[in-house]
Amino acid sequence: MSTDKWNLSFKVQRKSGMAAAEWNGDNRTIEQLIEDYQPGYSMEQQFYRDPEIYQREIENIFLKHWILAGHVSQIPNAGDFFLFEMDRESVIVIRTRDGEVRAHLNVCRHRGSHICLEKQGNAKLLTCPYHAWSFDLDGNLVSARLMAEDFDKSQNGLHAAKVELVGGLIFISLSDNPPSLATMRKDLGDVFDTFGFDHMKLAASKTFPIAANWKLAVENYQECYHCTPSHQEYAKIHALALAPEKFAELKEDYLAASDGSVRQEESSCYFDRAKPGDEGYQYGRNPLLKGMKSGALGGEAVAPLLGKLKRHDGAASEFMVGPLSFFLIYNDHMVGYRFVPNSHETCSCDVFWFVRDDAVEGRDYDLEKLTWLWDITTQSDEEIIVNNQKGVDSHFYRPGRLSKMEYFEQSFLNWYLAALKG
Ligand code: FES
Ligand SMILES: [Fe+2]
Repeated sequence: MSTDKWNLSFKVQRKSGMAAAEWNGDNRTIEQLIEDYQPGYSMEQQFYRDPEIYQREIENIFLKHWILAGHVSQIPNAGDFFLFEMDRESVIVIRTRDGEVRAHLNVCRHRGSHICLEKQGNAKLLTCPYHAWSFDLDGNLVSARLMAEDFDKSQNGLHAAKVELVGGLIFISLSDNPPSLATMRKDLGDVFDTFGFDHMKLAASKTFPIAANWKLAVENYQECYHCTPSHQEYAKIHALALAPEKFAELKEDYLAASDGSVRQEESSCYFDRAKPGDEGYQYGRNPLLKGMKSGALGGEAVAPLLGKLKRHDGAASEFMVGPLSFFLIYNDHMVGYRFVPNSHETCSCDVFWFVRDDAVEGRDYDLEKLTWLWDITTQSDEEIIVNNQKGVDSHFYRPGRLSKMEYFEQSFLNWYLAALKG
């Protein structure tokens, strides 16, 4: 599948040089808006409202980069599948007969109908509900009724999306030529090993629909300036909510006490620092407040230790891949956050909770205790992001000055504007 084909269709809809936001009495082009961005400030309103900018984001970001689709534990058996849906795209993520994980575009090669209508399930064949063309689990067309003699089934398999597994995490890209994950794999191999990325399972997930542009959701995730005022529960556990000077003191104490069993060294090809051709990624480890073990009520442990860990050392690791997928790794569980754009004015945040794969619900972990912190925190995030969009929509919104606790947000904005420029 080529993203160039999509590009063509978008170009038809767009008059070249057309103003990005004529509705606002502002006739600057997208290029001018990018050029006019003032570092150290939030972005102008058009970036959060304009459908034309969103179309360019689809081409330059969503159809190019890697995004978390799900986890191998969701599809243990041949024929198990689930749908990953983003914007106008629907992808069937499926386990084949030889145990591979594949991703097929949910677009019939006959006249384009969605093939899988269920969000998840098990199928022996993928049969289109419209005229019954059938595809095998590898996406090959195996039967098509009453077609002409010269019809070549071998040329009519389902379009494939690229798939890469990072441990059991399934990442997909809709590009023919996505950025490479090789640098990240080489750099973070020891981290994946320590936390047992190959030996986790998905314990729970929850979708939070957000009536706001996707960037407000991602930006919110990039900064903890809002944590103390907006997330009391989080701020009682995580040192990141502290002012930078206090946080630095605590981190120094934590590093002095560390036995080196978990990687402390930061690895940052974060957004604007990724090398050309590489996907952006980041790893870092931050202390929790003193006495806290995990991201749960009272900082208590809520599941068996992950991977090779032997103890709770009062810290949690952050890990991100690409612009939309983020992870917070406590010593006993991992929480994944995926931001999915659905339109220029709506997105969702999908939250995933992972535990080690031999942990048993009810015996080793309790779902309510496991999910409490990030359920309550994401509910508050949803509310503050939606309120943020309402204000950004006002005629009186102007870009505002960022604080020193919003340095990662600045990194995201730099990366975003460069990606939009293309
Ligand atoms: S559209 Fe799928 S078989 Fe016709
Ligand atoms: Fe938040």
